[in-house]
Order: sequence, then structure tokens, then C-alpha cells
Amino acid sequence: MTEINKDPLLSVRNLGVVYETSQGPVHAVTDVSFDVQENEVFGIAGESGCGKSTLIKALLRLLPDNGVATADRCDYRGSALMKMEGEAFRKEILWQEISMVPQSAMASFNPVYRVGDQVVESIQTHRKASRAEALERASELFDVVGLEPGLLKSYPHEFSGGMRQRAMIAMALSLDPGLIIMDEPTTGLDVLVQERILRRIREIRAELKSSIILITHDIAVIAEMSDRIAIMYGGEIMEQASTIELFENPHHPYTLGLKNAFPSITTMGTELISIPGSPPTLIGPVQSCPFAPRCPFDDAACHAANPAATEIAAGHVVRCVNYENSAQFRSLAKEKSTWLS
Ligand SMILES: Nc1ncnc2c1ncn2[C@@H]1O[C@H](COP(=O)(O)OP(=O)(O)OP(=O)(O)O)[C@@H](O)[C@H]1O
Ligand SMILES: [Mg+2]
Repeated sequence: MTEINKDPLLSVRNLGVVYETSQGPVHAVTDVSFDVQENEVFGIAGESGCGKSTLIKALLRLLPDNGVATADRCDYRGSALMKMEGEAFRKEILWQEISMVPQSAMASFNPVYRVGDQVVESIQTHRKASRAEALERASELFDVVGLEPGLLKSYPHEFSGGMRQRAMIAMALSLDPGLIIMDEPTTGLDVLVQERILRRIREIRAELKSSIILITHDIAVIAEMSDRIAIMYGGEIMEQASTIELFENPHHPYTLGLKNAFPSITTMGTELISIPGSPPTLIGPVQSCPFAPRCPFDDAACHAANPAATEIAAGHVVRCVNYENSAQFRSLAKEKSTWLS
């Protein structure tokens, strides 16, 4: 992959994660490579179960005991994340440099403590700050995410889902990290609340200059928020490019399928086409393109080996043996009959 910038904030090469299960090894993430630049929003999109949360848990070394991660490179500002001593990683990187808004943010607050005390404790664990200083910081952060500082005195159950999500974002901002990972920050919230949170995320990014990895299965959200996008399927990045490039010049049949399922002004009124079939189980070794069984354009080569990732233009990477036929795929993908056959 072209090194767009000599010093990306985060640089990941050939990351893999395997979970040992009673049914055999689950290849949840396979051969994933990407960079996150300073002050950018890097979006990761894909259907449920494609490995998005596993990927970030591997980066944050938060995998459960049955999960094993390997990578050729996983560097944050020059620190090899996976090779650091556990204690140094937890003290120097986790929360301080890379923080996370977890997928189950709803459950992330302890119900018996006031929300403000939990934010204050997180600040005092990592920083030399008096309680008054930490409280002042917590008030500032609540203001940033659009919560009344008076709400610091509330208990988690007194918050709505959207408020808890915003409080979690405040917590993730509390130590001025260089990178904030948000795993489905708006899933399950109503559209108005979603829109408000997305607006806050945009403001935070403009004001604080942190980079963000934004994970969602909602392609509309990712398109609106991200500078660059990686599309995942079956544990692999099928295509990645700048947002404009990905939408104007998509190459992978899976990207074309996702685009079809995403309503836009130009498609309003026309019938949405979704991709028939279901995602792979990921059990056992990867021996073919994971999308081949659902791909309308598959041929023998797709089933014979897992395609390598090819950089077709600077920063635009596609994992499809037939990427050279993409112009034809793009036109055929618009027909419903293409996806039904
Ligand atoms: N602890 C685990 N043990 C075994 N398999 C697991 C474990 N956690 C996740 N998996 C499997 O790994 C794959 C990827 O799961 P992951 O949760 O990373 O997907 P995801 O893209 O985050 O999905 P969602 O959009 O539903 O959050 C799935 O097949 C899942 O069943
Ligand atoms: Mg997930």
C-alpha cells in the first residue's frame, strides 16, 4: 500500500484474529491493513459479524481469552502496540492515547455511581488532578458533548440512551487522546438523537484535532462522516479508498451491493436492491474470496484462492481478482436481475 503520509498516526499491516471455539477456529479478521492519518475520520463499514469490533478489540488488546491476534505491524506514533509490555500499554496508550466508545456504551457505566464521579475517577486515574480540577474538566467535557454540567450529578439510569452515549463520548475525550475509536456510536438511537450525536462528533473533530475510527453498519452514516472508508466483509477489507473515490469509483462487487442498498436522492423512488444470501461463518481457513458465494460476478478463480489486496490507485485498495471488470460490474449491479440470478 502506498504510504500516503510518511508518519500516519496508526499503521496496521496484515492483522489477523482467530477465536478458538468448540466448532473450530473462527477467522474473525484476516489480513487487514490500513493507516489512519492525523486529524481524519476513518470509517469502517460492513454487515453484522464481519469482524469490525474484533478488529478494534485487537488494536486495544481487549480480546477475550479465546482470541489471538497477529500482525506484521501495528504502530501508533512509533509504538508497536502489540509488542509493548501489558502494563506500559495500559498506562501509556489505553485511554491516554487511544480511547474507545464501546459498542455497548449503554452498559459501560456502573449503575450505582453518579456519572460525573465516574468521569472524574477516569481523569484522576491517569492524571495528577485534584477532585476540583477533575470536576472542572468533566464539566467542560459535558459541555463539549452537549450535556448540561448539572447532569454530572445524575445516575446512569436517569439518562436516556442518547445522553449515556454522549457521556461515554465525554469519557473517551477526557484525556485528550490522539485517536478515539467509536464502535456503532449511534446504533439503536432514534434518528434525531443520531443526528445530534453525529453533529457533536464533527464539532469535536474540528475543535480537538483528534483522529477518529468510526465503526458502523450504516453506510449512510459512514459516507456522511468519514474522510476515508474501509468496507469489510467476512473478516477482510474488501475495498478502501477516500469517501469520494469509493462512492464515485467503486470496484468491489460487495461495495456495489452495499451502495445499492443505500438510499440516496438519486435513487429515491426506485426499488432498493439488497444482496441475497448471508455472510460466511468464518470457521476454518480462508481458501476463497469470502464474498464469492454471494457475488453475481464470481468465476472459478474466485473460488480457487483468496484474492490479494491490490492497490489500483494511490490509497484505493481492492480485494477482487476481477477488479479490472469493474466498469461492467457497476453497470450490471444497477439491475435487480443481476443480484437474483
Ligand atoms: N469471543 C468470541 N468467540 C468466538 N467467536 C467470536 C467471539 N466474538 C466474536 N466472534 C465471531 O467473530 C466474528 C466477528 O464478530 P464481531 O463482533 O467482530 O463482528 P462485528 O462486525 O462487530 O458485528 P456487529 O456489527 O454485529 O457488531 C463473528 O463471526 C462472531 O461470531
Ligand atoms: Mg461489533
